[in-house]
Amino acid sequence: MADIPSAIPLEKIPQHVAMIMDGNGRWAIQRGLPRLAGHKAGTENLRRVIRASVEFGVKYLTIYAFSTENWGRPPEEVKGLMYILEDVIDRELNELNKEGVQLRHIGRLERLAPSLQEKVLDAIEATKNNDRLVLNVAFNYGGRDEIVLAIQKMMKDGIAPEQVTDELVSQYLFTAGVPDPDLIIRTSGELRISNFMIWQAAYAEWYITPTFWPDFDREEYYRALEAFAHRDRRYGKVSSGELQESNA
Ligand code: IPE
Ligand code: IPE
Ligand code: MG
Repeated sequence: MADIPSAIPLEKIPQHVAMIMDGNGRWAIQRGLPRLAGHKAGTENLRRVIRASVEFGVKYLTIYAFSTENWGRPPEEVKGLMYILEDVIDRELNELNKEGVQLRHIGRLERLAPSLQEKVLDAIEATKNNDRLVLNVAFNYGGRDEIVLAIQKMMKDGIAPEQVTDELVSQYLFTAGVPDPDLIIRTSGELRISNFMIWQAAYAEWYITPTFWPDFDREEYYRALEAFAHRDRRYGKVSSGELQESNA
């Protein structure tokens, strides 16, 4: 395998990175802190990761912040996570604008408090002209829920069965117009997808690290990008190197 210099060539930088920000609870428990302290630390870390994404030249960053299954957590934790979202928007909106970050939401807003829904929509509106990085926040997001909603919408639109294609389904998802993730990073070592981007992840590369989310720093993010740069994405075919050899 050819050596890739330590600076990753731009064409090897994933266009879309998605992150399953896991391990906040265990990070806190290890320190004898309440789980919510872990979520707060996780939010602080998010700022670093957003900045690093802009620096590395990533164009789309999707972060899994609250799943449709996370409603099943104790009410205080759910309330705390809602509050954190609200607080983050209040505190970070200026910074997002300064960094050229366009905020988007994937998932359903309906179940959130009306004031929080409004806050999210206002922040989306306020950042809509930024174009350095698109930040997709998956909040009250579930991959199955997204597909169910897409099917319902297609049926309501009177789409005929023969009109249903890969491309059409993609257009009915929350991520319409966004390229599929090239790289999915999951922190805290769990080897599962947890209902995240189950359609879009079809050919994503995975990077799973035991590091808990609050400790996932710029250096480790860079290592994930380096690992990605060495991957041979075959998409079910044979590698381009092998093809050249067999043609020689
Ligand atoms: C991820 O951290 C954040 C959310 C799911 C909201 P966790 O809260 O799942 O942390 P662990 O997995 O319990 O350590
Ligand atoms: C996935 O983490 C959801 C988010 C990171 C928001 P979970 O902690 O909810 O996933 P499981 O329960 O370990 O699969
Ligand atoms: Mg978890």
